[in-house]
Order: sequence, then structure tokens, then C-alpha cells
Amino acid sequence: MKVLGINGSHRKESTTLFFLKKALEICEKEGHETETIELWDKRLEYCKHCNHCRDHPGECSIEDDVPGIFRKMKESDAIILASPTYFACVSGRMKALMDRSITLRRDNYTLKNKPGGGIISGASRNGGQEFVLSQIINFFLLQEMLPVSDKQTAHFGGIAWVPRGSKPEDDKLGIETCENLGRKIAEVLKMMKS
Ligand SMILES: Cc1cc2nc3c(=O)[nH]c(=O)nc-3n(C[C@H](O)[C@H](O)[C@H](O)COP(=O)(O)O)c2cc1C
Repeated sequence: MKVLGINGSHRKESTTLFFLKKALEICEKEGHETETIELWDKRLEYCKHCNHCRDHPGECSIEDDVPGIFRKMKESDAIILASPTYFACVSGRMKALMDRSITLRRDNYTLKNKPGGGIISGASRNGGQEFVLSQIINFFLLQEMLPVSDKQTAHFGGIAWVPRGSKPEDDKLGIETCENLGRKIAEVLKMMKS
């Protein structure tokens, strides 16, 4: 089965990507195919609330890279959304992608019943990562997806803390939460297959 990871960081040298890869590596070890999409280099406009998708469910009036990303989301069996914390919110690019996905919701909930996991990085130890995870979990619920936990480590998903001057590799607990999220995704996919 296929697990898609989307990284909402605005920069190429992304710490969030390091943690997303930890979750995807576990999914691969469990026998799943994975793919990563990064948003920093994509043409990604804001939803204009033009309501084109109300009359044409699944379509969007904006011609950029988003329809291609949606195609990959639809083809995947599970989705992990990863984002840095920006003022205790998801990144602007991740939020733009979420808003644009209203067309999928209007298209009879195209993403429904796909397991979804969230991974958030932040520079402060209590920088709002849990608030951001709840935004991602709410997104999954609004799309009728199935949010999964990271089992017993952080509960709400992958939570990473990379303060200034340290490396992602230093956050052992953060890595563990991401790996456990990958394990949970694989566990749910296995249940769905049987
Ligand atoms: C505009 C902006 C706002 C930020 N706000 C927060 C914040 O509220 N809490 C936090 O812990 N870190 C905050 N950070 C730090 C980033 O979340 C952190 O460095 C993150 O790991 C960067 O991930 P990336 O390298 O994948 O982009 C902020 C960074 C930027 C640029």
C-alpha cells in the first residue's frame, strides 16, 4: 500500500523533513511504498472562495501545482502531513493546501477513510506543537479521514523540538514519536487490508 508524506516547510533545508522521513522509513520497513512531497518549491495559490468546486466537485479554477498534489493524495492509502510550527499554527503553505482541498471534500469526501498522521516541529520545547497537531487532526476529521496517534509516546502524533544550535538527530524522543506514528499507520493499513 502507499503512504504519502507532505512537508509544509517553506525551506529546502528542512528539519521537519528529517522527522517525516523517520515515519516513512518505518512504513517502508513494514512493506509499504512511500512518497514525499515538499511544498517549499511548489506553485501554490490561496483558495479564492470562487465556489467553482461547488458546481464542479473535484475541480479547481486555479491552475498551479495543487491539482497534481491532490491526485497523489487520492492515489495514496494513507497520508502524513508534516509542518513546522509558525506562531503556533501550521505553515502558511500547509494551510493554503488545506484550504484548497475543499474541492476534495465537496467531491463526496474523496479522502474519506484514509488513515492520517501529523508531525510537527518547533524551535521551542513548548512552542505550540500540540496546537498545530490539533489543526492537522481537525483537517483529517473534516475530510472524513481517520486520524491516528503515535501510540504511547506523544499521543497526538510526531512532535519534534529542534532548538537553535541543535540538530534534528539530537531529539531522540521526537524521532521516537515519528517512528511510532509510522508504526501506527502501518498497523491501521494492515487492519484495513485484512
Ligand atoms: C515565522 C516563524 C514562526 C515560528 N513560530 C514558532 C512557534 O510558534 N513555536 C515554535 O516552537 N517554533 C516556531 N518557529 C520555529 C520553527 O517552527 C522551527 O525552526 C521548525 O523546526 C522549522 O522547521 P523547518 O526547518 O522544517 O522549516 C517559527 C519559525 C518561523 C520562521
